Amino acid sequence: MSLLNKINSTQKKFLSELSSATDDSSKLNDLYNKYLGRKGLVSDLFSDLSTVESKDKPMVGQKINLLRNSIQKSFDQFNLTKNKTNNSSDIDFTLPGNHFFEGNIHPITKVLNDISDIFKSIGFSVFSGNEIEDEFYNFEALNIPKHHPARDMQDTYYLNNEKLLRTHTSASQIHFMENNTPPVKIISPGRVYRNEDISVRSYCLFHQIEGLYVDTNVSFSDLKGVMEYFSKQYFGQDVKVRFRPSYFPFTEPSAEMDIYWGLESESDYRITKGTGWLEILGCGMVDPEVFKAVKYDSSVTGYAFGIGIERIAMLKYGITDIRLLYEGDIRFLRQF
Ligand code: PHE
Repeated sequence: MSLLNKINSTQKKFLSELSSATDDSSKLNDLYNKYLGRKGLVSDLFSDLSTVESKDKPMVGQKINLLRNSIQKSFDQFNLTKNKTNNSSDIDFTLPGNHFFEGNIHPITKVLNDISDIFKSIGFSVFSGNEIEDEFYNFEALNIPKHHPARDMQDTYYLNNEKLLRTHTSASQIHFMENNTPPVKIISPGRVYRNEDISVRSYCLFHQIEGLYVDTNVSFSDLKGVMEYFSKQYFGQDVKVRFRPSYFPFTEPSAEMDIYWGLESESDYRITKGTGWLEILGCGMVDPEVFKAVKYDSSVTGYAFGIGIERIAMLKYGITDIRLLYEGDIRFLRQF
């Protein structure tokens, strides 16, 4: 079939002409136009396709395509564009450039790191607990008895009869004390899980930083002092904090700490439920029952606290919907 022969001879001719043109860019250009130009040899071959019997057309057409691609590839090595050589004078510096986005730290990670740094600077070391726990670490050792509402299936994700996703980082306290003798001075940051209705304010998982300090003669005023110190370091010297009495089975007395956020914008109203105050942590003096569970001497004293990270991140960065923190939407994350 004569067109097939023509294809083959075009290929041979191209290769021999290419080898004598490689060191001269204007020759290369001519060669490009001769073969791949609008009225070039390859385009002739495509026109000749009309002379081929229909049943052979797909096969012959494919051969021409292959030829065209291989010729184009040869020119690609020399950086030739259709009609031009790539002189620097041909580059249009006014065209918009390609934008490469840098990755950045997720706001949750940033808050976790910044708060951890404050506690590290005053002698706390970091201990990582487990996200999968059993009832002993998450509840029993923390003096949360069987009938306590926190153990309801509604709040806790059970993986099976024994294992569950921890509902708070307080479980880390037990692990650490089981394996270390006092004095203890740790923080334990991480994820916790609760089976809550998902809304602007709550999600099925969130983050906490647990703190635990155990020694002799630790007092509630030590706890208050450290919490105030942390608040000033993180939110600024002018921050207003208040402690409210509260209840946790594993601390006695117990308190919650709020910081004053103000009531300037509509979102302040929403976040603080119209009070201007936002609860950011629970704390208290470690209950003697907890020391009993980890076989500590009854003479030790200590305090513990659990800081809610999402609340602080939302406050600090003006985020009004907690769900944004987990959606992984690049348009949101790039803002931090
Ligand atoms: N674990 C408590 C919670 O998740 C917080 C807390 C930690 C309270 C340590 C007191 C002491 O709500």
